[in-house]
Amino acid sequence: MATGTNRQWRLINRPTGEPTDDDFDLVETDVPDPGPNEVLVRTVYMSVDPYMRGRMRAGDSYADSWPLDEPMRSLVVGEVVESKHAAFDEGDLVRGNLYWAEYAAVDGHELELVDPRGAPVSTALHVLGMPGMTAYVGTVEVGHVKPGDTVVVSGAAGAVGSVAGQIARIAGCRVVGIAGSDEKTAWITDDLGFDAAINYRAVDDLTAAVADRCPDGVDLYYENVGGPVSDAVFEQLNDFSRVAVCGKISLYNAPPDDDRMYGPRWLHQRTRTRVEGFIVSDYDHLEEQALDRVADWVTDGRIRYRETVTDGIEHAPEAFLGLFEGGNVGKQLVAVSEPPQ
Ligand SMILES: NC(=O)c1ccc[n+]([C@@H]2O[C@H](COP(=O)([O-])OP(=O)(O)OC[C@H]3O[C@@H](n4cnc5c(N)ncnc54)[C@H](OP(=O)(O)O)[C@@H]3O)[C@@H](O)[C@H]2O)c1
Repeated sequence: MATGTNRQWRLINRPTGEPTDDDFDLVETDVPDPGPNEVLVRTVYMSVDPYMRGRMRAGDSYADSWPLDEPMRSLVVGEVVESKHAAFDEGDLVRGNLYWAEYAAVDGHELELVDPRGAPVSTALHVLGMPGMTAYVGTVEVGHVKPGDTVVVSGAAGAVGSVAGQIARIAGCRVVGIAGSDEKTAWITDDLGFDAAINYRAVDDLTAAVADRCPDGVDLYYENVGGPVSDAVFEQLNDFSRVAVCGKISLYNAPPDDDRMYGPRWLHQRTRTRVEGFIVSDYDHLEEQALDRVADWVTDGRIRYRETVTDGIEHAPEAFLGLFEGGNVGKQLVAVSEPPQ
């Protein structure tokens, strides 16, 4: 039986606008005792993701709202410390929708065994997990990517965008990434093989920059950010183009009375564009097939990844808030304890 303290983060406010550290509270409890069919998991890595901003609201999001004064949920990879469930043994590496916490005791049906396939265990939270699956679904299933397309990806140096762009390259496309720093644009062109990139924070005329990098127009736009970046890309869409609306992070902190225009714009001359939003969980039936393909591409070096790792559960809120400032290159993770050897 594990003993000691368990630090866990709780949401204590529902912010309007930008969240701050004051919206979170770090609480110490005892390490939980697993009940019948439960498994005690020690968190190794915890994921912070943009969609969690929606979970801070009372309603109004596709994911359940986080209750106030209770531990917040997150995808975690961890090690089984104690098991009262037949499918898991001490020492197993597992993934689940657990907590912003050092330990969690959950029913075994909430966990799955992780097979890192030779890659670091952290990849189960990005390229070989939900973000990798999202990148695949958005390009292949929703975006119908095809050879010869010009594909623009926004949020291109993030967890999802960096993989989406590489999948489009593998599919035989010309790929242009939009990201928020020179370090990020250098990474996606020099290391990931994007054909061109734009630092949207450094150009005066984003529409002109997109037109310059996409002389044949845009056939597929992989939309991660919304706002002015999205507007600039929409102006270059070709006939029969597709827009895969994955996310709109630039709008997630907008207060409810924000009167900026949202949603697909500049379509008046583009009546033959298909704009389709999607949620990765609607494609669970494809997960095994999709992640097998992505894992093969990681193994043969055609997909590369990067992680930004913040050390210590005590720094989890700053890792999360950094997503809205562009603090991460590749996947933002929180390292909570040492991975098993
Ligand atoms: N549909 C689904 O099922 C699904 C699943 C997973 C994720 N998503 C969405 O996919 C998008 C990317 O998620 P991720 O996990 O890969 O996050 P991420 O891209 O790794 O991190 C967020 C990045 O967004 C950029 N950003 C922040 N504020 C911005 C703004 N105002 N304008 C433009 N860019 C901004 C920042 O990069 P820069 O430095 O480049 O600004 C930041 O690093 C998010 O919108 C997320 O909600 C959707």
